[in-house]
Amino acid sequence: MSNSVLVLFAHPTPHRSRANRRLIRSLRGIEGVTLHDLYHNYPDHDIDVEREKALLGAHDLIVWQHPFYWYSLPPLMKEWQDRVLEFGWAYGPNGHALRGKRLLPALTTSGSEAAYRADGANRYTIRQLLAPLDQTCHLCGMEMLDPFVVYATQRLSDEALDEAAVSYRKHVLMTAGMTHE
Ligand SMILES: Cc1cc2nc3c(=O)[nH]c(=O)nc-3n(C[C@H](O)[C@H](O)[C@H](O)COP(=O)(O)O)c2cc1C
Repeated sequence: MSNSVLVLFAHPTPHRSRANRRLIRSLRGIEGVTLHDLYHNYPDHDIDVEREKALLGAHDLIVWQHPFYWYSLPPLMKEWQDRVLEFGWAYGPNGHALRGKRLLPALTTSGSEAAYRADGANRYTIRQLLAPLDQTCHLCGMEMLDPFVVYATQRLSDEALDEAAVSYRKHVLMTAGMTHE
């Protein structure tokens, strides 16, 4: 397995982020890890589909990093999905470009872990709420891995968020089979 990681990062208001900006910072400057900030690259949502396809093709592990919005994605990431995952390329007859790749969802929430349970306020686990993404991966011949989640970010101190970022970096590198540190 080659050890290249593409991190697709989507946060509409990164200047106000406490959690995601720490997570993404923890992955900066690592050989074999490409950081791709969708809102920075496409402020007008004018997605360069061919560029995105080339980026996907060049990496094995795709990380989707974003804050959880309405149990789902920030809008640009949804748009990215709609535009880039084309019939005949990502799925359908001859649509094999993504086959064998793995996708790691990495998200932050304001809800606590206890809230994301059958008996909690949000009734479902994050993994259950990611069923559409799981099925999208399946359709494209990709494997969706268990999500990396930082829960209850508003209640975490800066120090706890810094620790979460260290765990994130370790988790991504371990998942990619990269032997840093
Ligand atoms: C439009 C919007 C929708 C949100 N929806 C959810 C949600 O469905 N579940 C949840 O736990 N938090 C939700 N949140 C809270 C964000 O997930 C939380 O603020 C974010 O993960 C914190 O990360 P950050 O510090 O990088 O912004 C929502 C926030 C916004 C602005």
